[in-house]
Amino acid sequence: MEAIRVTDNIYWVGAIDWNIRSFHGYTTPRGTTYNAYIMTGEKNILIDTVKRPFLDELLARIKSVIDPSKIDLIVSNHTEMDHSSSLLEMQKLTGAKVLASRKGKEGLALHFPELKVDAVEDGSEIRCGGKTLRFIDTPMLHWPDSMFTYVPEDKLLFSMDAFGQHYATNARFNDEVDQGILFHEAAKYYANIIMPFGARVVKTLEKASELDIQILATAHGVIWRKDLGKILKAYSDWGSNVTKEKAVIVFDTMWGSTATMAQHIADGIASQGVEVQVLKLGDTDRSWVIKEVLDARAIVVGTPTINNTMFPSVADLVFYMKGLRPKGRIGAVFGSHGWNGGGTRAVREQLEVTGLELPLEDLQVNYVPHEAEKERCREMGRQIAMKIKEKK
Ligand code: FEO
Repeated sequence: MEAIRVTDNIYWVGAIDWNIRSFHGYTTPRGTTYNAYIMTGEKNILIDTVKRPFLDELLARIKSVIDPSKIDLIVSNHTEMDHSSSLLEMQKLTGAKVLASRKGKEGLALHFPELKVDAVEDGSEIRCGGKTLRFIDTPMLHWPDSMFTYVPEDKLLFSMDAFGQHYATNARFNDEVDQGILFHEAAKYYANIIMPFGARVVKTLEKASELDIQILATAHGVIWRKDLGKILKAYSDWGSNVTKEKAVIVFDTMWGSTATMAQHIADGIASQGVEVQVLKLGDTDRSWVIKEVLDARAIVVGTPTINNTMFPSVADLVFYMKGLRPKGRIGAVFGSHGWNGGGTRAVREQLEVTGLELPLEDLQVNYVPHEAEKERCREMGRQIAMKIKEKK
């Protein structure tokens, strides 16, 4: 296992987790990487570590460049354990000081009480081995402790989780991989991890615009070294809730009635030239749905009624979405019920809390949609399309 050179004396020494399929509930069909970096010179500096089971991989890659015991300093940009859980072993091995943001110092103390950490101030710089390290707090992007580390000599930003992708590949750079897959995974990552902090993203991009950046060395997936404008523009759009003329219909069904409704609503939306995605829960996991929600202007949720409330798989999605807080979007609700309703009302209450605008009445069908009800569904679809077009 070799280190990969990023600049003259900065190397990627991370680990590839080819087979992780759930990252705390977010499905990762393409695995992920835990990116750590080593800067070599008069002083050797390790930027972050890897998830503890991958410590040997980290050490092997460092050894291909330097003796790991020669590390003089470790920077911890983020406390979450996919990056911090090898810190203690690395400190024991090297005796190196660990630097983190103030919140990072507090958080690391709660994770690893034995770890010795010094706090660095936002905007402060240190010189080490002929390099400058400038620390930039990026609170809630996506934890309170998160920070960037900028190296002006290399125009390189260690950007922590920002700009990451859960994408295991032997390629290390953005220009070496399929661009469709790359942006799909970057969008899915943003939607599932960063979305609640869009306002912070916009502020951070403003702060970062003062820096001359040629390389974004992220903590997951490939390193951005070409066409940085594309991923920066994507983050700017996502952070500002820029959407397109697109609706996501997400539903579950007991005996096919709510599925039939979904199909006819989709027909109504598509008839107006608006893009539509139809996703059945149970077959499509929540993290995929949220990726599709990212650029959609409308979220249309369908549920059968069970025990006077929404279907469990719909509840899972709605609660997940409530935490991620997609803003500036339209919501709509539909579903089939038997003797008593209750499912659509329960969904509506949660979507209101999520902050979606709900301009249409819920569409409910008793038992099975026949031709008249199917036409009502198509009409709902047409109205959703009209609301999408009105909302620029
Ligand atoms: Fe990749 Fe928030 O840790």
